[in-house]
Amino acid sequence: VDADGTRNFDLTMQQGSTEFLPGRQTPTWGFNGTYLGPTLRAERGERVKVRVRNTLGEASTVHWHGMHLPAPMDGGPHQMVPAGGTWAPHWTVDQPAATLWYHPHPHGATEDHVRRGLAGMFLLDDERSGRLPLPKRYGVDDLPVIVQDVAFDGKEFDFEHRALRDVGFLGDRTMVNGTLDPYREVRDERVRLRLLNASTARVHAFGFDDDRGFSLVATDGGLLSSAVTKKRLQLSPGERAEIVVRMEPGERTVLRSLPLDAGLNFWSKRFSGGDDSFDVLQLRAAETLRPSPALPDRLGEPEVPDGSDSVRERHFRLQLPLINGRTMDMNRIDTTVTRSTAETWVIRSEDGTPHNFHVHDVQFRILSVNGRRPPPELRGPKDTVFVAPNATVRIALRFDGPADPETPYMYHCHLLYHEDRGMMGQFVVV
Ligand code: C2O
Ligand code: CU
Ligand code: CU
Repeated sequence: VDADGTRNFDLTMQQGSTEFLPGRQTPTWGFNGTYLGPTLRAERGERVKVRVRNTLGEASTVHWHGMHLPAPMDGGPHQMVPAGGTWAPHWTVDQPAATLWYHPHPHGATEDHVRRGLAGMFLLDDERSGRLPLPKRYGVDDLPVIVQDVAFDGKEFDFEHRALRDVGFLGDRTMVNGTLDPYREVRDERVRLRLLNASTARVHAFGFDDDRGFSLVATDGGLLSSAVTKKRLQLSPGERAEIVVRMEPGERTVLRSLPLDAGLNFWSKRFSGGDDSFDVLQLRAAETLRPSPALPDRLGEPEVPDGSDSVRERHFRLQLPLINGRTMDMNRIDTTVTRSTAETWVIRSEDGTPHNFHVHDVQFRILSVNGRRPPPELRGPKDTVFVAPNATVRIALRFDGPADPETPYMYHCHLLYHEDRGMMGQFVVV
């Protein structure tokens, strides 16, 4: 932190190799290391400055997924950092406590850059979250859980697993924070897992092998108004959730990625990996556990519009590789919204393929899924939402950043293979 209170981060995008499999070095990319990147953390109201250096040997970008910031700082495909170049975005954090993340966004190559290892978490805190009795000792009872599916061909990552699949790459095992077959010793009665689905295409339905319930406390953009008890939680690529798991002394439980119940028919389920299951992370409780306080009744005050003041409704039809009949064009603005207004967006998957929908700069509220009130886990602040085949999802968003008619933000399918094929559009705030 500078004298003037600016929080500075240095991120170097680099190539290297990582020993995932004993004795074998897999070529990988990372931020400040060979795979994934450091967890960045800042507080609401703080000024953040990042010095990004690109030593990859090819151009890339760093996008702050879920962050509300001016478009030139967003790290989308218009903010390329050339090979050997640098970029120094800065902004003031102006949103509630949340689990966000960062990853590259070069047009047409996002899947490749993320899958090689470029991703990290960006945690935001605020005064309210600091006072709540939630597990909050990072790395002790508050753990980042970056979930990715991978496949190996000998020592190399096998990137070619996508043959015949409409969704993109699907691996045959999962890693947490870049580790295969991970386990974690737990020394507290309650542990908070910040789950990030950083897989490029796979939708994970998380649950424990003993079917225990857990408390969902936050979604993409921050805390729910109150905790929700769940046994299963589905996250599509790019989505996050914070859950609190209660452990008994000496017990073990395994977080698993389970077969989906996502409104998929037999074939699309099969070809989107929906029948697969994986052990994701084993938790091993110590023989004595430190007591943790009970969860509070009230958590956050989600700051998302409720649709009542929407000034217009727009429709987005998803049909691989098209959104509203067009593929991404860097030189075309698809949508122009008015600063300080709210809108309702209606997203529909029309091609029998699973998709999701992510909007840069904002957190939105899901108003309905197929005309029905969304389930509790979809009522909090969101920036990415799963759109099952033939589903219709209505969301309310407010655009309250600075007007900038020159620099677009993106909305897109976060199945990165779909994004790279052109399922992305650009909006400007005027
Ligand atoms: Cu996580 Cu446009 O990205
Ligand atoms: Cu994003
Ligand atoms: Cu898609």
